[in-house]
Amino acid sequence: MGSPAEDLIKKAARDLANSHHAIALTGAGISTESGIPDFRGPSGVWTKNPEAERRAYRSYERFLEDPAGWWEERLTSPGVLGDLGSFQPNRGHYALVELEQLGALKCVITQNVDGLHEKAGTRNLLEYHGSTLKLRCTSCGSRFRREEFDLDRLMRDKQLPPHCGRCGGIVKTDGVAFGEPIPSDVARRSLEEARKCDVMLICGTSAVVYPFANLPRTAKQRGAAAVAATIIEVNAEPTPLTQEGISDYLIQGKTGQILPRMVEEVKGLRAKS
Ligand code: APR
Repeated sequence: MGSPAEDLIKKAARDLANSHHAIALTGAGISTESGIPDFRGPSGVWTKNPEAERRAYRSYERFLEDPAGWWEERLTSPGVLGDLGSFQPNRGHYALVELEQLGALKCVITQNVDGLHEKAGTRNLLEYHGSTLKLRCTSCGSRFRREEFDLDRLMRDKQLPPHCGRCGGIVKTDGVAFGEPIPSDVARRSLEEARKCDVMLICGTSAVVYPFANLPRTAKQRGAAAVAATIIEVNAEPTPLTQEGISDYLIQGKTGQILPRMVEEVKGLRAKS
């Protein structure tokens, strides 16, 4: 008998290998081993600076009231996570890429704005809270790479906020602030994935922010007709999903250690089949 975690990793590998449409949901916990702090863990950004969280809750209101002022502040003060451009994916991100390449994972839905899943090579990716590397038109929803706008010149020439070249709407950062609607394309596709998945692998999220935290419940509490998905949590600590029995089992520990082991087990099962 292996350790409890080892046995659960083998169980998860079997669930993934036997799945028809497994998806992964991720949160800040999968990026901490890349050096990016999470929000609510022991050394999380909100844990260490509750005032920063209170400010974050007011950000979208301020944007709606005064988009130019919001942009000025945005361009002159560092974001809560600092400059994310220099971080690299870790073994947890790459493990999800390998599962996708093995055909054992069909989609990744992430809350993270750090762009590390994209950098690691995940192909079917839904950035539920957007990406800090992109901008988005608040009217037509078009997305742009940040460098498509000369933001410093717009600030110098007092021409903020940026405007969409397609519809003239006001452009903001793609990152979705508290209280801001999830962009409709991502919201719709995420719900579709949650409805059709038969396995959901939830990695590194405290599962307390909505509407993202509804996705596991959608996968679990289906109508009588559809079979509930198998919900697997990989997290450093139990979450409300664990406590409420939404997840079938929790593999407690670090994603950077657990997920690569899971890939090895899936490969082993594939080799035997
Ligand atoms: N391996 C596994 N779990 C980890 C690791 C790790 N290496 N590091 C941290 N964790 C766990 C923490 O214990 C915590 O339960 O990951 C979880 C991270 O939770 P949060 O910090 O709340 O991050 P997240 O769930 O992604 O937050 C959701 O809140 O502030 C908003 O928009 C922001 O997208 C974010 C949302």
